[in-house]
Amino acid sequence: MTDKPAKPVLLTGASGALGRVLAKALAAMGWKLVLTDIAPFPDPIPAGCRFTKADLANGVDILRLAEGCGAIIHLGGVSVERPFEEVIGPNIRGLYHIYEAARREKARVIFASSNHSVGFHERSVTVPADTQFLPDGFYGLSKAYGELMGRMYWFKHGVESVFLRIGSARDEPIDARMLASWLSYGDLTDLVVRSVVTKNVGCVAVWGASKNTRMTWWRDDGRAALGWEPKDSADSFTAQLQNVLSGDPVQERFVGGGYCAIDYSRDEQAPAWSGAAGEA
Ligand SMILES: NC(=O)c1ccc[n+]([C@@H]2O[C@H](COP(=O)([O-])OP(=O)(O)OC[C@H]3O[C@@H](n4cnc5c(N)ncnc54)[C@H](O)[C@@H]3O)[C@@H](O)[C@H]2O)c1
Repeated sequence: MTDKPAKPVLLTGASGALGRVLAKALAAMGWKLVLTDIAPFPDPIPAGCRFTKADLANGVDILRLAEGCGAIIHLGGVSVERPFEEVIGPNIRGLYHIYEAARREKARVIFASSNHSVGFHERSVTVPADTQFLPDGFYGLSKAYGELMGRMYWFKHGVESVFLRIGSARDEPIDARMLASWLSYGDLTDLVVRSVVTKNVGCVAVWGASKNTRMTWWRDDGRAALGWEPKDSADSFTAQLQNVLSGDPVQERFVGGGYCAIDYSRDEQAPAWSGAAGEA
């Protein structure tokens, strides 16, 4: 199987942290990328790529940008916890424009979902990818809704999706939580490549974390269908980071960490989730 897609690939959120990493890495593999973002692209445009500034709110622009593309790697939008009114435009309406474009082009969507769509699962429990969504804020809620939108477009229109439930994608882990949730840039790039080039993926979710010994939160996802296995590990940072804790019981209890604690207003402790069969 070739690791180079036959058609150009649209990459949204190209000017963001992960967009810049992927634009560089995929272009170096000879991919033809249509890069877009609401912010200017801060680096030299890689060979074989073009960049167009666009707002995800503009459905006509998104349709035009997707013309002739075989896949859309969708990273654009609000990427942190923000008030509802700020999240809904880019992350819900913007995603709808992406799916309409994918439907028209018969393109696959690789959607940057997030661990925050399942952030209120206990860290002590290991959950499969088809577990209940337990979003930890408006941002996580938009990612859960986004996955549901992808599922609807698969069942109703045959639009394929890979949902990347990214943990913490950055050059290095920086605290004890990331000893579990860290996803190296190399593993992210491999995951995105497999998500684009593997034939007939249907609609699958994959936990986006490297091969970290402490990653005991998640199991059973679509990685085998993609032929993806992470290679990197946060383990070498254990001695340095294992005591870098928040001191906040809510943050340390749940998968979503600090996002769970933002605006947390329960008087009593949150109940443990016990509604999903088969969770161990
Ligand atoms: N970095 C991580 O660890 C991580 C973890 C989980 C999920 N994700 C998801 O991965 C994606 C990329 O993450 P990132 O860390 O690169 O985020 P980022 O904030 O650096 O990049 C997001 C990009 O989206 C663009 N954008 C925002 N609103 C837009 C709009 N209306 N129209 C067009 N572009 C718009 C921004 O300008 C920005 O460049 C995001 O969707 C994020 O939610 C990232």
